[in-house]
Amino acid sequence: MNIFENAPQTEPERQYYFIDIAKDLLKKEEEKAGRKLTFHVTTFGCQMNARDSEKLSGILERIGYIKEESEKADFVVYNTCTVRENADNRVYGRLGILNGYKKKNPFMRIALCGCMMQEENVVRKIKESYSFVDIMFGTHNIHELAELVVANLQTNAMTVHILDHGQNPVENLPIDREYKFKTGINIMFGCNNFCSYCIVPYVRGRERSREPKAIINEIERMVQDGVKEIMLLGQNVNSFGKDLDPVMTFSELLHEIDQIPGLERIRFMTSHPKDLSQELIDEIAVSKHVCHHIHLPLQSGSSRLLKDMNRHYTKESYLDLVDRIRKAIPDVALTTDIIVGYPGETEEDFEETMDVVRKVKYDSAFTFEYSPRTGTPAASRPDQVPADVVKTRFDRLLKEVQKYGRERAKELEGSVGKVLVESMNREDENLVTGRLENNSVVHFPGDASLIGSIVTVKLTECRGFYYFGEMVSE
Ligand code: 5AD
Ligand code: SF4
Repeated sequence: MNIFENAPQTEPERQYYFIDIAKDLLKKEEEKAGRKLTFHVTTFGCQMNARDSEKLSGILERIGYIKEESEKADFVVYNTCTVRENADNRVYGRLGILNGYKKKNPFMRIALCGCMMQEENVVRKIKESYSFVDIMFGTHNIHELAELVVANLQTNAMTVHILDHGQNPVENLPIDREYKFKTGINIMFGCNNFCSYCIVPYVRGRERSREPKAIINEIERMVQDGVKEIMLLGQNVNSFGKDLDPVMTFSELLHEIDQIPGLERIRFMTSHPKDLSQELIDEIAVSKHVCHHIHLPLQSGSSRLLKDMNRHYTKESYLDLVDRIRKAIPDVALTTDIIVGYPGETEEDFEETMDVVRKVKYDSAFTFEYSPRTGTPAASRPDQVPADVVKTRFDRLLKEVQKYGRERAKELEGSVGKVLVESMNREDENLVTGRLENNSVVHFPGDASLIGSIVTVKLTECRGFYYFGEMVSE
């Protein structure tokens, strides 16, 4: 019987069919090995990848692999990122180490997936120079892992399946959440913006929103299962729902999610400044559970560069947006992404960025050196900024960003806030560690019974960007 010909054509039924077959094949492998076989998923990159990794883990666990902490496992998945060149280089470097493990373990299999796999030159390079890799798949078919495992276990030949565009997301596959009490949830996939430096639209495809009913149902199930905090994920959540019939805005979705009983915190990521509506600002202000934290990537403070980047806002309109947000939500935490050394960036352009940093006083900022990505318009520009200039500007920016970050953190010293307790403290067994609504980390005396609950904590001491505190009764 040809198991592939007989497989159901509909999802998720097809994948459950392959999970069952993979279970049997795994048992045979385990008999040969004389032990249970294990898996490990390593995530590179963003929250989207972290969520995808939870899906991959869920499928591998359902097949019967045992989760293990180290990469010396029998089935290792690298869920890759390609947003900047150093992300790619880290993967290539670590693959060499994995190959060393594989030489000592005849049962080991290595799978690569995620954004890097959507680039033809990467796939070619892996096939040619890293032929010990067993499975490769892309961002559009992570749900097919069980099917690919079956193909690979049966043939022992490199199994490669990469789709060049997205389809409707496959719902209801097993998921293994990293934390019991918080998780991410995709509300949309892909990006339509084509910022001139960014490779994401090429590797993640066009925007596709999930059906609101499917999102709400999934969150309700998560809450029943102990989730208190969710992060709504999309490359540009502010354009959620434009492709739905009937259309729905992100703030309408947020309003519905805010009503779900038992859900205590709602976060979202990422907002594009050009699409952040007044309606959304007002919704966050009146909502009961949406955290007062907005990640609002600036990229550059120079209107000239913003135009070139295809960002569709100016320095002035960005600052006006920040003013409107702060007016409606005075205690909001603002964070951002900034790129230094975009092609053609002059000292004046860079000073415009510094000016925005001084005016907005971000709670924190991710700062990046510009990294040319093959195939994006900015990469072929002749006026790339010399590396030493980029480095000096980067250091100046980081200093400024950290100065304001410290100042903002200090402002909360002595105040009282709600903390979701996430874990025991890594260094002191008498302390637990959690996060405030603005995402800052707090350490305070407590025990494991507090993990997963939201408690009130006085922030007694600010240490740079984090706090020590003590629990207070309400
Ligand atoms: N070089 C440097 N930073 C980049 N980002 C995206 N593409 C590049 C690039 N080519 C940054 C942007 C984005 C964040 C996720 O990564 O700041 O917001
Ligand atoms: Fe990249 Fe711009 Fe899309 Fe963000 S909005 S993923 S920076 S293209």
